[in-house]
Amino acid sequence: MGEDVRTSLKHGGGATVLVALSQIADGGFAEAEADIDGDAEPLILYRDGDTVRAWLNICPHAGRRLDWAPGQFLKSREGLLVCAVHGASFDLANGGCVAGPCRGESLRAVAVVVRDGNVLLDAP
Ligand code: FES
Repeated sequence: MGEDVRTSLKHGGGATVLVALSQIADGGFAEAEADIDGDAEPLILYRDGDTVRAWLNICPHAGRRLDWAPGQFLKSREGLLVCAVHGASFDLANGGCVAGPCRGESLRAVAVVVRDGNVLLDAP
């Protein structure tokens, strides 16, 4: 009998593996979906060395996804995440919008941790 893959994606304590760290290029992005407060929410994952930051993939401007195709995010030459819809630019250190139609607002942060080479939702 083969191993149940979904079982292997669960860790003790209910933490869910979103993606393997090796699947995200350093300085690059990935998308995932996670159950947050009972709702399936789209996530942006951004890798910075051995750490990953995550936000809801919902632009504070008009509530659209920021990627132009699933998992395809724009990064400016200045290192900002750029919403593919109307061009709002976000600081990847903190998710704050620094330019564009929602300047001063912020992406909603989602707590994730890197453990054993995997990116996990940091469930309470
Ligand atoms: S929806 Fe992102 S800038 Fe308008």
